[in-house]
Amino acid sequence: MISANLIIFGATGNLSTKKLFPALFELEKQNLLPPEIKLLGLASQTLTNDEFALIVKNEIVAKTENVKLIDKKLAAFMNRINYLPVNFEEPASFEILKDQELTKKDSLYYFATPPKFFAIISHALDQVGLITPKSKVVVEKPIGENFESSLRVNNALAEVFREQNIYRIDHYLGKETVQNLLALRFANRFIYSQWDRNCIDHVQITVGETLGLGGRWSYYDKIGQLRDMVQNHLMQLLCLVAMEPPASLKYGDIQNEKLKVIRALREITIDEIKNNIVIGQYDRGWINGSPVEGYLQEPDCKNDSSDTETYIAIKTYVDNWRWSGVPFYLRTGKRLREKVTEISIHYKEMPHKIFQSDSNLVNTLKIRLQPNEGIQMSVASKRKGIAEKIIIESQTLNLNFDDFSDGSHLPDAYERLLFDAIHGDPALFVSREEVEASWQWCDQITRSLNENQVKPMIYQAGTWGPATAELLTAKDGRTWFA
Ligand code: BG6
Repeated sequence: MISANLIIFGATGNLSTKKLFPALFELEKQNLLPPEIKLLGLASQTLTNDEFALIVKNEIVAKTENVKLIDKKLAAFMNRINYLPVNFEEPASFEILKDQELTKKDSLYYFATPPKFFAIISHALDQVGLITPKSKVVVEKPIGENFESSLRVNNALAEVFREQNIYRIDHYLGKETVQNLLALRFANRFIYSQWDRNCIDHVQITVGETLGLGGRWSYYDKIGQLRDMVQNHLMQLLCLVAMEPPASLKYGDIQNEKLKVIRALREITIDEIKNNIVIGQYDRGWINGSPVEGYLQEPDCKNDSSDTETYIAIKTYVDNWRWSGVPFYLRTGKRLREKVTEISIHYKEMPHKIFQSDSNLVNTLKIRLQPNEGIQMSVASKRKGIAEKIIIESQTLNLNFDDFSDGSHLPDAYERLLFDAIHGDPALFVSREEVEASWQWCDQITRSLNENQVKPMIYQAGTWGPATAELLTAKDGRTWFA
Protein backbone atom coordinates (compact mmCIF):
# COMPACT_ATOMS: atom_id res chain seq x y z
CA MET A 1 0.00 0.00 0.00
CA ILE A 2 1.30 3.44 -0.92
CA SER A 3 1.61 5.84 2.03
CA ALA A 4 -0.44 9.03 1.92
CA ASN A 5 2.24 11.03 3.65
CA LEU A 6 5.76 10.78 4.93
CA ILE A 7 6.48 12.26 8.35
CA ILE A 8 10.15 12.74 9.14
CA PHE A 9 11.29 13.16 12.75
CA GLY A 10 14.63 14.92 13.06
CA ALA A 11 13.92 16.89 9.89
CA THR A 12 16.57 19.56 10.45
CA GLY A 13 19.37 17.07 11.16
CA ASN A 14 22.17 16.11 8.77
CA LEU A 15 20.62 12.84 7.65
CA SER A 16 17.36 14.53 6.68
CA THR A 17 18.73 17.63 5.00
CA LYS A 18 21.72 16.02 3.29
CA LYS A 19 20.36 12.60 2.39
CA LEU A 20 16.59 12.13 2.78
CA PHE A 21 15.13 15.28 1.24
CA PRO A 22 17.65 15.32 -1.66
CA ALA A 23 16.81 11.64 -2.30
CA LEU A 24 13.08 12.43 -2.23
CA PHE A 25 13.69 15.24 -4.69
CA GLU A 26 15.50 12.82 -7.03
CA LEU A 27 12.37 10.66 -6.92
CA GLU A 28 10.30 13.76 -7.73
CA LYS A 29 12.53 14.51 -10.71
CA GLN A 30 11.99 11.04 -12.06
CA ASN A 31 8.24 11.15 -11.44
CA LEU A 32 8.61 8.36 -8.89
CA LEU A 33 6.94 10.11 -5.97
CA PRO A 34 3.22 9.31 -5.72
CA PRO A 35 1.44 12.48 -6.92
CA GLU A 36 -0.56 13.00 -3.70
CA ILE A 37 2.12 12.30 -1.13
CA LYS A 38 2.84 15.09 1.37
CA LEU A 39 6.07 15.45 3.30
CA LEU A 40 6.00 16.68 6.86
CA GLY A 41 9.21 17.56 8.68
CA LEU A 42 9.28 17.59 12.49
CA ALA A 43 12.06 18.87 14.74
CA SER A 44 12.44 20.95 17.86
CA GLN A 45 13.36 24.22 16.11
CA THR A 46 10.62 26.78 15.64
CA LEU A 47 10.37 27.27 11.88
CA THR A 48 7.58 28.09 9.46
CA ASN A 49 6.82 25.87 6.45
CA ASP A 50 8.59 28.35 4.21
CA GLU A 51 11.67 28.62 6.39
CA PHE A 52 12.02 24.86 6.51
CA ALA A 53 11.37 24.47 2.79
CA LEU A 54 14.15 26.99 2.17
CA ILE A 55 16.63 24.91 4.18
CA VAL A 56 15.74 21.90 2.04
CA LYS A 57 15.85 23.92 -1.16
CA ASN A 58 19.31 25.31 -0.40
CA GLU A 59 20.70 21.80 0.09
CA ILE A 60 19.25 20.65 -3.21
CA VAL A 61 20.40 23.73 -5.12
CA ALA A 62 23.92 23.38 -3.69
CA LYS A 63 24.11 19.92 -5.29
CA THR A 64 22.68 20.97 -8.65
CA GLU A 65 24.74 22.23 -11.60
CA ASN A 66 22.00 23.86 -13.65
CA VAL A 67 19.21 25.00 -11.35
CA LYS A 68 17.07 26.27 -14.25
CA LEU A 69 16.65 22.73 -15.50
CA ILE A 70 14.99 21.67 -12.26
CA ASP A 71 12.90 24.81 -11.66
CA LYS A 72 9.47 23.26 -12.20
CA LYS A 73 10.21 20.07 -10.34
CA LEU A 74 11.66 21.99 -7.44
CA ALA A 75 8.54 24.14 -7.18
CA ALA A 76 6.34 21.03 -7.19
CA PHE A 77 8.55 19.45 -4.53
CA MET A 78 8.45 22.53 -2.31
CA ASN A 79 4.65 22.38 -2.47
CA ARG A 80 4.69 19.01 -0.82
CA ILE A 81 6.77 20.17 2.15
CA ASN A 82 5.32 21.12 5.52
CA TYR A 83 6.94 21.61 8.89
CA LEU A 84 5.89 21.52 12.54
CA PRO A 85 7.96 22.08 15.68
CA VAL A 86 7.75 19.16 18.10
CA ASN A 87 9.85 18.56 21.18
CA PHE A 88 10.48 14.80 21.18
CA GLU A 89 11.17 14.82 24.90
CA GLU A 90 7.76 16.25 25.69
CA PRO A 91 4.98 13.89 24.62
CA ALA A 92 2.46 16.72 25.15
CA SER A 93 3.98 18.62 22.25
CA PHE A 94 2.74 15.84 19.92
CA GLU A 95 -0.83 17.10 20.48
CA ILE A 96 -0.22 19.59 17.67
CA LEU A 97 -0.15 16.68 15.21
CA LYS A 98 -3.70 15.63 16.06
CA ASP A 99 -5.41 18.52 14.39
CA GLN A 100 -3.48 18.37 11.13
CA GLU A 101 -5.42 17.30 8.06
CA LEU A 102 -2.23 15.71 6.85
CA THR A 103 -1.80 13.28 9.74
CA LYS A 104 -5.33 11.90 9.43
CA LYS A 105 -4.35 9.40 6.73
CA ASP A 106 -2.13 6.33 7.02
CA SER A 107 1.37 7.59 7.42
CA LEU A 108 4.89 6.44 6.90
CA TYR A 109 7.00 7.72 9.79
CA TYR A 110 10.75 8.10 9.47
CA PHE A 111 12.76 8.30 12.70
CA ALA A 112 15.88 10.16 11.57
CA THR A 113 16.75 10.79 15.21
CA PRO A 114 19.14 9.30 17.72
CA PRO A 115 17.75 5.88 18.74
CA LYS A 116 17.05 7.02 22.30
CA PHE A 117 14.00 8.80 20.86
CA PHE A 118 12.52 5.77 19.02
CA ALA A 119 10.52 4.52 22.01
CA ILE A 120 9.45 8.00 23.15
CA ILE A 121 8.24 9.02 19.70
CA SER A 122 6.43 5.70 19.08
CA HIS A 123 4.50 5.94 22.34
CA ALA A 124 3.74 9.63 21.94
CA LEU A 125 2.30 8.96 18.45
CA ASP A 126 0.22 6.15 19.87
CA GLN A 127 -1.08 8.29 22.69
CA VAL A 128 -2.31 11.03 20.41
CA GLY A 129 -4.09 8.39 18.33
CA LEU A 130 -1.95 8.60 15.20
CA ILE A 131 -1.15 4.92 14.90
CA THR A 132 -3.34 2.60 12.84
CA PRO A 133 -2.63 -1.03 11.90
CA LYS A 134 -1.35 0.35 8.59
CA SER A 135 1.11 2.88 10.03
CA LYS A 136 4.66 2.15 8.89
CA VAL A 137 7.94 3.29 10.36
CA VAL A 138 11.49 3.50 9.01
CA VAL A 139 14.23 3.40 11.63
CA GLU A 140 17.86 4.22 11.13
CA LYS A 141 20.79 2.35 12.59
CA PRO A 142 22.06 1.94 15.22
CA ILE A 143 19.25 -0.19 16.63
CA GLY A 144 20.76 -0.31 20.10
CA GLU A 145 24.40 -0.45 21.05
CA ASN A 146 24.43 -4.14 21.93
CA PHE A 147 22.03 -7.11 22.06
CA GLU A 148 20.32 -6.00 25.29
CA SER A 149 19.64 -2.47 24.15
CA SER A 150 18.54 -3.63 20.68
CA LEU A 151 15.92 -5.79 22.42
CA ARG A 152 14.64 -2.74 24.26
CA VAL A 153 14.42 -0.68 21.06
CA ASN A 154 12.75 -3.50 19.13
CA ASN A 155 10.30 -4.20 21.98
CA ALA A 156 9.34 -0.54 22.17
CA LEU A 157 8.70 -0.43 18.42
CA ALA A 158 6.74 -3.70 18.60
CA GLU A 159 4.40 -2.25 21.22
CA VAL A 160 3.20 0.28 18.68
CA PHE A 161 3.91 -0.98 15.15
CA ARG A 162 3.34 -4.36 13.50
CA GLU A 163 6.62 -6.13 12.68
CA GLN A 164 5.88 -6.18 8.92
CA ASN A 165 5.45 -2.39 9.10
CA ILE A 166 8.85 -1.73 10.74
CA TYR A 167 11.47 -0.92 8.09
CA ARG A 168 14.97 -1.17 9.60
CA ILE A 169 17.25 0.55 7.18
CA ASP A 170 20.79 -0.49 6.31
CA HIS A 171 21.65 1.91 3.54
CA TYR A 172 24.19 -0.54 2.07
CA LEU A 173 21.26 -2.72 0.99
CA GLY A 174 19.94 0.16 -1.09
CA LYS A 175 23.15 0.53 -3.06
CA GLU A 176 22.61 -0.44 -6.68
CA THR A 177 25.71 -2.63 -6.75
CA VAL A 178 24.82 -4.46 -3.55
CA GLN A 179 21.58 -5.51 -5.20
CA ASN A 180 23.60 -6.45 -8.25
CA LEU A 181 25.41 -8.94 -6.06
CA LEU A 182 22.13 -10.86 -5.80
CA ALA A 183 21.80 -10.77 -9.58
CA LEU A 184 25.39 -11.87 -10.04
CA ARG A 185 25.01 -14.84 -7.71
CA PHE A 186 21.53 -16.02 -8.57
CA ALA A 187 21.11 -15.12 -12.25
CA ASN A 188 24.43 -16.54 -13.54
CA ARG A 189 24.71 -20.30 -13.56
CA PHE A 190 28.49 -20.38 -13.95
CA ILE A 191 28.90 -18.26 -10.83
CA TYR A 192 26.15 -19.96 -8.87
CA SER A 193 27.60 -23.41 -9.45
CA GLN A 194 31.14 -22.45 -8.37
CA TRP A 195 30.16 -20.86 -5.07
CA ASP A 196 31.11 -23.15 -2.22
CA ARG A 197 33.87 -24.78 -0.22
CA ASN A 198 34.79 -27.09 -3.12
CA CYS A 199 35.80 -24.18 -5.34
CA ILE A 200 36.48 -21.22 -3.05
CA ASP A 201 39.61 -20.92 -0.92
CA HIS A 202 38.61 -17.80 1.00
CA VAL A 203 36.58 -14.59 0.84
CA GLN A 204 37.64 -11.02 1.66
CA ILE A 205 35.41 -8.03 2.33
CA THR A 206 36.98 -4.58 2.58
CA VAL A 207 35.11 -1.39 3.42
CA GLY A 208 37.71 1.36 3.50
CA GLU A 209 36.93 5.00 4.20
CA THR A 210 39.17 8.02 3.81
CA LEU A 211 37.01 10.18 6.09
CA GLY A 212 37.90 10.67 9.73
CA LEU A 213 35.58 11.44 12.62
CA GLY A 214 35.60 15.22 12.52
CA GLY A 215 32.25 16.38 13.90
CA ARG A 216 31.12 12.96 15.13
CA TRP A 217 33.92 12.20 17.60
CA SER A 218 31.86 12.24 20.81
CA TYR A 219 29.26 9.87 19.39
CA TYR A 220 31.76 7.59 17.69
CA ASP A 221 34.12 7.30 20.64
CA LYS A 222 31.43 5.33 22.50
CA ILE A 223 30.78 3.11 19.51
CA GLY A 224 33.87 2.25 17.44
CA GLN A 225 34.15 0.61 14.04
CA LEU A 226 32.86 -2.83 15.09
CA ARG A 227 29.50 -1.40 16.09
CA ASP A 228 29.43 1.44 13.55
CA MET A 229 30.22 -0.64 10.46
CA VAL A 230 30.63 -4.38 11.09
CA GLN A 231 27.40 -5.09 12.99
CA ASN A 232 25.39 -3.74 10.09
CA HIS A 233 27.03 -3.03 6.72
CA LEU A 234 29.82 -5.64 6.68
CA MET A 235 27.63 -8.37 8.15
CA GLN A 236 24.94 -7.63 5.59
CA LEU A 237 27.50 -7.89 2.77
CA LEU A 238 28.80 -11.13 4.24
CA CYS A 239 25.24 -12.47 4.37
CA LEU A 240 24.61 -11.64 0.73
CA VAL A 241 27.83 -13.43 -0.25
CA ALA A 242 27.24 -16.49 1.90
CA MET A 243 23.47 -17.03 1.95
CA GLU A 244 21.63 -19.84 0.19
CA PRO A 245 19.39 -18.90 -2.74
CA PRO A 246 16.15 -17.44 -1.35
CA ALA A 247 12.89 -18.92 -2.62
CA SER A 248 11.91 -15.48 -3.90
CA LEU A 249 12.85 -11.85 -3.50
CA LYS A 250 9.86 -11.27 -1.21
CA TYR A 251 10.23 -9.99 2.33
CA GLY A 252 10.95 -12.88 4.64
CA ASP A 253 12.65 -15.12 2.11
CA ILE A 254 15.85 -13.05 1.85
CA GLN A 255 15.82 -12.13 5.55
CA ASN A 256 15.52 -15.78 6.62
CA GLU A 257 18.46 -16.84 4.47
CA LYS A 258 20.61 -13.98 5.81
CA LEU A 259 19.65 -14.89 9.37
CA LYS A 260 20.86 -18.48 8.87
CA VAL A 261 24.27 -17.11 7.85
CA ILE A 262 24.54 -14.88 10.93
CA ARG A 263 23.59 -17.80 13.15
CA ALA A 264 26.27 -19.94 11.50
CA LEU A 265 29.06 -17.41 12.11
CA ARG A 266 31.72 -18.88 14.35
CA GLU A 267 32.13 -17.26 17.75
CA ILE A 268 35.47 -15.63 18.38
CA THR A 269 36.28 -16.70 21.91
CA ILE A 270 38.67 -15.09 24.38
CA ASP A 271 41.36 -17.64 23.53
CA GLU A 272 40.98 -17.02 19.83
CA ILE A 273 40.73 -13.26 19.80
CA LYS A 274 44.39 -12.46 19.20
CA ASN A 275 44.62 -14.83 16.26
CA ASN A 276 41.44 -13.63 14.62
CA ILE A 277 41.00 -9.92 15.30
CA VAL A 278 43.17 -6.84 14.86
CA ILE A 279 41.98 -3.42 15.99
CA GLY A 280 43.60 -0.08 15.28
CA GLN A 281 43.26 3.66 15.71
CA TYR A 282 44.46 6.26 13.20
CA ASP A 283 47.19 8.74 13.90
CA ARG A 284 48.20 11.75 11.78
CA GLY A 285 49.05 11.06 8.17
CA TRP A 286 48.43 12.00 4.55
CA ILE A 287 45.40 11.31 2.40
CA ASN A 288 45.31 12.21 -1.29
CA GLY A 289 48.34 14.46 -0.82
CA SER A 290 46.91 16.44 2.13
CA PRO A 291 47.88 16.14 5.78
CA VAL A 292 45.15 14.89 8.12
CA GLU A 293 44.90 14.86 11.91
CA GLY A 294 44.95 11.76 14.07
CA TYR A 295 41.91 10.46 15.98
CA LEU A 296 42.98 12.21 19.18
CA GLN A 297 43.63 15.50 17.40
CA GLU A 298 40.16 15.69 15.80
CA PRO A 299 38.76 19.14 16.67
CA ASP A 300 35.90 17.80 18.79
CA CYS A 301 38.02 15.20 20.66
CA LYS A 302 37.88 15.85 24.37
CA ASN A 303 40.28 13.19 25.66
CA ASP A 304 44.04 12.65 25.76
CA SER A 305 43.65 8.97 25.09
CA SER A 306 41.00 6.56 23.89
CA ASP A 307 40.78 2.80 23.37
CA THR A 308 38.12 3.09 20.67
CA GLU A 309 38.96 1.25 17.47
CA THR A 310 38.69 3.11 14.17
CA TYR A 311 39.86 0.00 12.32
CA ILE A 312 39.01 -3.66 12.69
CA ALA A 313 40.05 -6.75 10.77
CA ILE A 314 38.35 -10.06 11.51
CA LYS A 315 38.90 -13.62 10.40
CA THR A 316 35.82 -15.75 10.80
CA TYR A 317 34.04 -18.82 9.43
CA VAL A 318 30.48 -19.58 8.38
CA ASP A 319 30.06 -23.00 9.93
CA ASN A 320 27.65 -24.69 7.55
CA TRP A 321 27.80 -27.23 4.74
CA ARG A 322 28.48 -24.73 1.96
CA TRP A 323 31.28 -22.85 3.69
CA SER A 324 32.87 -25.27 6.11
CA GLY A 325 36.60 -24.49 6.40
CA VAL A 326 36.49 -21.36 4.18
CA PRO A 327 37.84 -18.29 6.01
CA PHE A 328 36.07 -14.96 5.61
CA TYR A 329 38.42 -12.01 6.20
CA LEU A 330 36.68 -8.69 6.90
CA ARG A 331 38.35 -5.32 7.34
CA THR A 332 37.05 -1.81 7.68
CA GLY A 333 38.49 1.46 8.92
CA LYS A 334 38.40 5.22 8.90
CA ARG A 335 41.18 7.31 7.35
CA LEU A 336 42.43 4.48 5.17
CA ARG A 337 44.22 4.91 1.88
CA GLU A 338 41.12 4.65 -0.33
CA LYS A 339 37.35 4.93 -0.14
CA VAL A 340 36.49 1.50 -1.40
CA THR A 341 33.95 -1.26 -0.81
CA GLU A 342 35.04 -4.50 -2.32
CA ILE A 343 34.33 -8.20 -2.03
CA SER A 344 36.87 -10.61 -3.42
CA ILE A 345 36.34 -14.31 -3.91
CA HIS A 346 39.57 -16.30 -4.10
CA TYR A 347 39.25 -19.65 -5.82
CA LYS A 348 41.23 -22.77 -5.01
CA GLU A 349 44.20 -23.88 -7.04
CA MET A 350 43.74 -26.52 -9.73
CA PRO A 351 44.24 -30.01 -8.25
CA HIS A 352 47.04 -30.90 -10.68
CA LYS A 353 49.32 -28.50 -12.54
CA ILE A 354 50.19 -29.27 -16.14
CA PHE A 355 51.39 -25.79 -17.15
CA GLN A 356 54.42 -23.71 -16.27
CA SER A 357 53.87 -20.28 -14.79
CA ASP A 358 56.02 -17.60 -13.20
CA SER A 359 53.73 -17.25 -10.23
CA ASN A 360 51.03 -19.10 -8.37
CA LEU A 361 47.95 -18.47 -10.49
CA VAL A 362 44.50 -18.75 -9.01
CA ASN A 363 41.21 -17.27 -10.15
CA THR A 364 39.83 -14.35 -8.21
CA LEU A 365 36.52 -12.64 -8.64
CA LYS A 366 36.55 -9.09 -7.42
CA ILE A 367 33.23 -7.33 -6.94
CA ARG A 368 33.72 -3.61 -6.49
CA LEU A 369 30.70 -1.96 -4.93
CA GLN A 370 32.10 1.57 -4.77
CA PRO A 371 33.60 3.53 -6.45
CA ASN A 372 33.84 2.44 -10.15
CA GLU A 373 31.29 -0.31 -9.65
CA GLY A 374 32.14 -3.42 -11.56
CA ILE A 375 33.46 -6.94 -11.60
CA GLN A 376 36.96 -8.15 -12.35
CA MET A 377 37.87 -11.74 -12.88
CA SER A 378 41.44 -12.90 -13.10
CA VAL A 379 41.86 -15.84 -15.43
CA ALA A 380 44.87 -17.85 -16.40
CA SER A 381 45.76 -17.66 -20.09
CA LYS A 382 48.64 -18.65 -22.30
CA ARG A 383 51.48 -16.19 -22.71
CA LYS A 384 51.80 -15.21 -26.37
CA GLY A 385 54.68 -16.63 -28.37
CA ILE A 386 56.48 -19.81 -29.30
CA ALA A 387 58.15 -21.53 -26.41
CA GLU A 388 58.99 -25.08 -25.58
CA LYS A 389 56.10 -25.31 -23.19
CA ILE A 390 52.81 -23.48 -22.73
CA ILE A 391 53.46 -20.80 -20.16
CA ILE A 392 50.53 -19.44 -18.22
CA GLU A 393 49.99 -15.89 -16.99
CA SER A 394 47.16 -14.02 -15.32
CA GLN A 395 44.85 -11.79 -17.35
CA THR A 396 41.93 -9.74 -16.11
CA LEU A 397 38.41 -9.71 -17.49
CA ASN A 398 36.98 -6.35 -16.62
CA LEU A 399 33.32 -5.55 -16.48
CA ASN A 400 32.69 -1.95 -15.65
CA PHE A 401 29.02 -1.26 -14.90
CA ASP A 402 29.40 2.28 -16.21
CA ASP A 403 30.17 0.94 -19.68
CA PHE A 404 26.68 -0.52 -19.85
CA SER A 405 24.82 2.44 -18.47
CA ASP A 406 22.98 4.60 -20.98
CA GLY A 407 24.08 7.66 -19.02
CA SER A 408 21.02 7.29 -16.83
CA HIS A 409 21.14 8.37 -13.21
CA LEU A 410 22.65 5.84 -10.77
CA PRO A 411 20.19 5.89 -7.85
CA ASP A 412 21.51 6.70 -4.40
CA ALA A 413 20.80 4.08 -1.72
CA TYR A 414 18.26 6.33 0.03
CA GLU A 415 16.29 6.87 -3.18
CA ARG A 416 15.75 3.14 -3.61
CA LEU A 417 14.93 2.55 0.07
CA LEU A 418 12.59 5.54 0.42
CA PHE A 419 10.82 4.49 -2.77
CA ASP A 420 10.36 0.96 -1.41
CA ALA A 421 9.17 2.15 2.01
CA ILE A 422 6.65 4.58 0.49
CA HIS A 423 5.35 1.75 -1.73
CA GLY A 424 5.21 -0.72 1.15
CA ASP A 425 7.94 -3.08 -0.04
CA PRO A 426 10.14 -4.20 2.90
CA ALA A 427 12.25 -6.73 0.93
CA LEU A 428 15.47 -4.70 1.20
CA PHE A 429 15.13 -3.95 4.90
CA VAL A 430 16.57 -5.83 7.86
CA SER A 431 14.45 -8.03 10.12
CA ARG A 432 14.38 -7.84 13.90
CA GLU A 433 15.97 -11.30 14.15
CA GLU A 434 18.87 -10.28 11.91
CA VAL A 435 19.58 -7.18 13.99
CA GLU A 436 19.50 -9.09 17.24
CA ALA A 437 21.57 -12.03 15.99
CA SER A 438 24.23 -9.73 14.56
CA TRP A 439 24.44 -7.87 17.87
CA GLN A 440 24.91 -11.17 19.67
CA TRP A 441 27.81 -12.05 17.38
CA CYS A 442 29.43 -8.62 17.77
CA ASP A 443 28.87 -8.55 21.53
CA GLN A 444 30.94 -11.69 22.04
CA ILE A 445 33.78 -10.00 20.10
CA THR A 446 33.51 -6.92 22.33
CA ARG A 447 33.53 -9.14 25.43
CA SER A 448 36.56 -11.09 24.27
CA LEU A 449 38.42 -7.87 23.38
CA ASN A 450 37.63 -6.35 26.77
CA GLU A 451 38.47 -9.43 28.80
CA ASN A 452 41.78 -9.77 27.00
CA GLN A 453 42.37 -6.02 27.37
CA VAL A 454 43.20 -5.73 23.67
CA LYS A 455 44.16 -2.14 22.83
CA PRO A 456 44.02 -0.66 19.32
CA MET A 457 47.31 -0.59 17.38
CA ILE A 458 48.15 2.85 16.06
CA TYR A 459 48.22 3.22 12.26
CA GLN A 460 49.13 6.17 10.13
CA ALA A 461 46.21 7.82 8.31
CA GLY A 462 46.39 7.09 4.58
CA THR A 463 47.63 3.50 4.98
CA TRP A 464 45.68 0.23 4.95
CA GLY A 465 45.58 0.06 8.75
CA PRO A 466 47.92 -1.45 11.35
CA ALA A 467 50.77 -3.58 10.07
CA THR A 468 49.60 -6.46 12.29
CA ALA A 469 46.47 -6.74 10.13
CA GLU A 470 48.76 -8.03 7.38
CA LEU A 471 49.67 -10.94 9.66
CA LEU A 472 46.04 -11.99 9.95
CA THR A 473 46.13 -13.14 6.34
CA ALA A 474 49.90 -13.73 6.06
CA LYS A 475 49.97 -16.43 8.75
CA ASP A 476 47.49 -18.37 6.61
CA GLY A 477 49.73 -17.87 3.56
CA ARG A 478 47.37 -15.28 2.09
CA THR A 479 47.46 -11.52 1.43
CA TRP A 480 44.84 -8.79 1.55
CA PHE A 481 43.64 -8.05 -1.94
CA ALA A 482 44.14 -4.36 -2.73
C1 BG6 B 1 27.43 4.88 8.24
C2 BG6 B 1 28.47 4.98 9.34
O1 BG6 B 1 26.46 3.93 8.55
O2 BG6 B 1 28.09 4.50 7.02
C3 BG6 B 1 29.54 5.99 8.97
O3 BG6 B 1 27.83 5.38 10.54
C4 BG6 B 1 30.15 5.62 7.63
O4 BG6 B 1 30.55 6.04 9.96
C5 BG6 B 1 29.07 5.42 6.57
O5 BG6 B 1 31.02 6.67 7.26
C6 BG6 B 1 29.66 4.89 5.28
O6 BG6 B 1 28.68 4.86 4.27
P1 BG6 B 1 29.07 4.97 2.74
O7 BG6 B 1 27.76 4.83 2.02
O8 BG6 B 1 29.72 6.31 2.54
O9 BG6 B 1 30.02 3.86 2.44
